Amino acid sequence: MHKNIVVAVDGPAGSGKSSVSKEVAKRAGLQYIDSGALYRAITLYVLTNCGEDFTQDDVSRLLNDIRLKQFFNDDGSCTTYCNGVDVSEKIRNETVATHIGKISDIVVVREYVNSLMRNWAKDHSIIVDGRDIGTVVFPDADIKIYLDATVEERALRRAKEYAQKGKNIDVNELKVQIARRDQQDINRPYGALRIAQDAIYIDTSAMTQQEVIDYMYSLVCDRIHSNYRT
Ligand code: DC
Repeated sequence: MHKNIVVAVDGPAGSGKSSVSKEVAKRAGLQYIDSGALYRAITLYVLTNCGEDFTQDDVSRLLNDIRLKQFFNDDGSCTTYCNGVDVSEKIRNETVATHIGKISDIVVVREYVNSLMRNWAKDHSIIVDGRDIGTVVFPDADIKIYLDATVEERALRRAKEYAQKGKNIDVNELKVQIARRDQQDINRPYGALRIAQDAIYIDTSAMTQQEVIDYMYSLVCDRIHSNYRT
C-alpha cells in the first residue's frame, strides 16, 4: 500500500497550468482537479439565481444549495457538474469572467471550495491547479510546482489559442490584460498568488509544453517511487 499523493500546481493566468497538469495526470494515473472551474461554477450559479446585483449574503445562502462534482475523463478532459448539470462549457463565458473576482474573494466561498478539494484528496492521488493550492489549500502537498512565464510569452500563447479558434486578437491588448490580471491575483486579500517557499519554480518561457510535461512527470514518478520505498 502506498499513500495518496497531492501535487499542487500554482501560477499566473496563461502559464499553462491546466494543460500540462491534465497531461501529467493522464500519464501518472492521478485525478486532476481544476480549482478555477469550481470558482467559475459557483459564479455561474449565483448569476443564474440572482443576476449581476448579488450580495455576499446571497452568495452565502446559495452555497447551501450547491452540489459540485468534477470528473477527470479518460480522454484527459475535465467535466464540472453543478447540481447534476454539466456546466463545463458555460463557466467559460465572459459574464462569469467579469464577476468571478468578486465571488472568489469571499472567505466562505474559498472555505467551501477548499474543503471540497481536501475531501476529494482523501480518496485519490491528485494534481490540482490554481493560485493558492500549495500555500493555502494543501500546505503539506507532496510536490509543489509554480509555473511561470513572461507576460510577453503568455500573451503570445493566448493569441495562438484564439487564432486556432479563428479569432484575431491583438497581442499587445492581451499583454495589458494579462499584466492587469497578474496584479489582481497577487494583491487580493484571500487566495493571493504566491510562490510557496518549498515550491519548485519552473520558468516555462523558453520551454515547449512537452518539455514541461516531461519534467513534471519525472518529479511525480520520483515521488511515487520514494513512497513505495518508505
Ligand atoms: O484558473 P482559472 O482562470 O479558471 O480561474 C478562474 C478564476 O478563479 C481566477 O480569476 C482566479 C480564481 N481562482 C482562485 O481565486 N483561486 C484558485 N485556486 C483558482 C482560481
